[in-house]
Amino acid sequence: MRFGAHGSLPAMMVSGAGPDQHDGAQSDARKAERVRDMFSDIAPTYDLLNGVLSLGSDRRWRAQAARAALAGVPVGGAVLDVATGTGDLALALKRARRDARVVGADFAAPMLELAGRKAAARGVELELVQADGTALPFEVGSFDAVTIAYGLRNFADPDAGLREFRRVLKPAGRLVVLEFPPPPKGAFGTLFRWYFTKVLPRLGALVSGESTAYSYLPESVLAFFTPDTLAGHMRAAGFGAVEYRLQTLGVSALHVAHVQGAAPERPA
Ligand SMILES: C[S@@+](CC[C@H](N)C(=O)[O-])C[C@H]1O[C@@H](n2cnc3c(N)ncnc32)[C@H](O)[C@@H]1O
Repeated sequence: MRFGAHGSLPAMMVSGAGPDQHDGAQSDARKAERVRDMFSDIAPTYDLLNGVLSLGSDRRWRAQAARAALAGVPVGGAVLDVATGTGDLALALKRARRDARVVGADFAAPMLELAGRKAAARGVELELVQADGTALPFEVGSFDAVTIAYGLRNFADPDAGLREFRRVLKPAGRLVVLEFPPPPKGAFGTLFRWYFTKVLPRLGALVSGESTAYSYLPESVLAFFTPDTLAGHMRAAGFGAVEYRLQTLGVSALHVAHVQGAAPERPA
């Protein structure tokens, strides 16, 4: 396991920037720190609540993401799971393809520690690296696929994250993003919005003893990009073809973005 130090990177990277850029970088650094502290605090109850709050669907959503990512990975290829948290998607990737090198990166050490314990208990080899997803410690073109599950919405600057994922991907690589889009319109969307904003924060607070994190979850989802908008941000970050599918009536969305020039395919 490789746990590096993680200072307020974005603020340090803007020497010479104008005052507005500097303020923006400082507020990004503050948001990143708050998010990192919040996930560090809820790490011990994260897995339990994930299953309960998604009514058990989260495993299926991640399995679909793993299949979509691995469809473009050659034998012995390399996959980076950013914002890996307690490692569920990284483990699903490794379970599906033992030959692949799977690296999990996250900036919250307590989440990574749990990922490491889970991998050891299952006899699975995962490389775990403590890093901010907007400043990854990897060379250009290091990976055949990059995945991120329910992490991008938490980035202080999701566009910087997308550009960084593009940077570390090989020329025929693909990015797979799982995210909760804002709830759809209509009766199901209304019901889901109620569950998400009223029931989930109470349940989350009860089990984790942490009220902030589970109020933050619906707030961050309601403020996040729609699936079409996210596809546009992926193209703006330098990806070519982007396709997505909604999972479980639009509760979750699976995007696949291909590095420009690679042949587009439907997600599995
Ligand atoms: C909701 S959890 C998702 C964890 C895991 N991918 C899953 O599917 O269960 C979000 C994770 O993103 C991480 N995270 C958020 N912003 C990050 C960033 N800028 N760089 C690295 N990790 C980040 C958090 O520490 C947390 O572990």
